[in-house]
Amino acid sequence: MLRLNRSLIADKNPASHVSESFRSLRTYIRQLGLLGEGGKVLLFTSAEGGEGKTTVLANLAVSFVQDGKKVAVVDCNLRHPGLHTIFEVEGSQGLAAYLGGQEDAKDIAVFGNLANLAVIPAGIAAVSPPDLLGSDKMPQLLEELKGSFDLILLDTPPAVEYSDARVLAPLTDGVIIVARYGKSKREALRKLKSLMEQTGSRILGIAMNQTD
Ligand SMILES: Nc1ncnc2c1ncn2[C@@H]1O[C@H](COP(=O)(O)OP(=O)(O)O)[C@@H](O)[C@H]1O
Ligand SMILES: [Mg+2]
Repeated sequence: MLRLNRSLIADKNPASHVSESFRSLRTYIRQLGLLGEGGKVLLFTSAEGGEGKTTVLANLAVSFVQDGKKVAVVDCNLRHPGLHTIFEVEGSQGLAAYLGGQEDAKDIAVFGNLANLAVIPAGIAAVSPPDLLGSDKMPQLLEELKGSFDLILLDTPPAVEYSDARVLAPLTDGVIIVARYGKSKREALRKLKSLMEQTGSRILGIAMNQTD
């Protein structure tokens, strides 16, 4: 993945080299044979913060939308949310309000600047995030989204320090690890990989971000 000048380059500059690298990631995911027959849920995680999960997820979402897919992005990073900023959405109480029982599923998705792209922002968690994310309401939401979208992308907190991504991983069709070239430590990545393997989920690959 090349270096980005603006966070949502796939939308603003589809002809750039960076957009091309998101198209490559899109092709890779398509070639895994995952897509089709109902929506598929992919989880993005990393060993530590700031490695580019939110950026890679958002750009990949745009790239799939440009390819004619219906995509929902769900900000399951209740600790340090980012999707509401990158897609400039407001007016939803978010995932936390749905999981906490204050909002219905149909009221938390916001359509951003692209048709066929729904954004569910994180909202504000009143109880501990792993407890919220572990509620039965989470698989119910994913089932509902699978009926309307081809692809559902989950953003999550770093998975070595926090259990949030590990709670969610078994609900997904696959996990993509985002690592930052020159920053992510081999030891932390190894730990992350073994933690995710323990969840029984399928690790689809590592997206290497900012290779310059
Ligand atoms: N490929 C990239 N090129 C340039 N800046 C990037 C790239 N990936 C991430 N960033 C920037 O690095 C910071 C951390 O990225 P972010 O996606 O928020 O990481 P995470 O969600 O894993 O914490 C953000 O300011 C983001 O804009
Ligand atoms: Mg993030």
